[in-house]
Amino acid sequence: MTLGDALPAVRSPIPAAAGQAWVERLAASECPALTTRRKRREEQTGASHDPIVWVEAQGANVVDADGNRYVDLTSGFGVALVGHRHPKVVEAVKRQADRLLHALGDLHPSDVKIELLERLCELAPWPQARAMLSLSGADAVTAALKTAVMATGKTGVIAFEGSYHGLTYGPLAVSGFAERFRKPFEAQLQPDVHFAMWPEREADVEAALRTLPADWSRMGALIVEPVQGRAGVRLPPPGFLEALKRLCEENDALLIADEIFTGLGRCGAWWRSVDEGITPDVICLGKALGGGLPVSACIASEEVMGAWGASDREAIHTGTFYGDPLGSAAALTTIDLIEGEHLIERAADRGNAWATALRAEGLPGVLEVRHAGMMLGLQLGAPMQALTVTHALLERGYLVLPAGMRADVLQLAPPVTVSEAQLEGFTASLRDVLGQP
Ligand SMILES: Cc1ncc(COP(=O)(O)O)c(C=O)c1O
Repeated sequence: MTLGDALPAVRSPIPAAAGQAWVERLAASECPALTTRRKRREEQTGASHDPIVWVEAQGANVVDADGNRYVDLTSGFGVALVGHRHPKVVEAVKRQADRLLHALGDLHPSDVKIELLERLCELAPWPQARAMLSLSGADAVTAALKTAVMATGKTGVIAFEGSYHGLTYGPLAVSGFAERFRKPFEAQLQPDVHFAMWPEREADVEAALRTLPADWSRMGALIVEPVQGRAGVRLPPPGFLEALKRLCEENDALLIADEIFTGLGRCGAWWRSVDEGITPDVICLGKALGGGLPVSACIASEEVMGAWGASDREAIHTGTFYGDPLGSAAALTTIDLIEGEHLIERAADRGNAWATALRAEGLPGVLEVRHAGMMLGLQLGAPMQALTVTHALLERGYLVLPAGMRADVLQLAPPVTVSEAQLEGFTASLRDVLGQP
């Protein structure tokens, strides 16, 4: 087995000497918020939560500073859909690096930026589309929120409890995931945000719709994750997204689909929202788009994007590195790979098979297995349980993320190319961990 589809090889304790030395340097140099968070987890779970330090990754494998090998079932926060360091992405980046590293963005763009814009517009679910490139998911959400203001003249936004759209100011204001993220900055956040209930079951849909505002006169946008990721892979019941789209149409508000996690094949379709029967007004992309490089995009129909008006001497929304050549080259290759390696079909088929197999396992303590393509959420019984299970899995060589507002969900989003043996090894390790008293 080569690095990429290999099984884990981990010696305890983790991190060992080399990793621990890096962690000490991290604690002495990084903003203390992250170190504090580890301490809090340690207090809550009684286990050490020092991180491993990544030094190499390939396919679904990650190697840490102590030489331990892991299987990454997170895709590095959903980024490595095509696998870490896909040889074709690396080749494209190297080729681009030999030619042009940086251009003059919106003023004098690179050829490869234009190619990426064209490709995204072709993929978009509108006959004619326009796109804006940026670096992070939060950037794409910011662009979408601004687009809604330009298109509707209204600044209010409807969002959902549990939603996660990024932590810069615009996205933070509409992220319902945790009050503690917003609290210190409340005075600097736009106040006109209405959080509605997210229905977890079909029986909750009516109640959720009743929590939408009665008066939409100030509401220019409704932003929704087609599947809530960080909140624990929470799928909207059938018909819910359609009802939202109808209400947006009736009330002259744009429906923004935050497909940063769910899009580009992760959920078995280019666009999860479209697969669920709606055409959103704006789509945000990020994470997997750059194949490992930071690239994001906000895409809308020509008509919606036209609301920005023609450029009048200077761009009123831009960034120094937006549409950078390296990221654009990597994104073009990533899109080619998703198409050429049939990753959308593979995500749909493999996700179904994996979820079915996990359900059939009858794992002790797993109350529910939710999934959309290769995005899975394993619902555990107790708050904070995902923290201890995640750590125990790490010790066995499997990287997964805790999710859910009560940290009671295991989030699984491996590279679509992960091997069967790696998935089977994970299931055996999870059974082992959950079987522990
Ligand atoms: C649905 C969704 N939107 C937005 C973001 C923010 O992306 P970024 O962290 O790149 O700013 C994330 C990140 O996890 C996400 O899952």
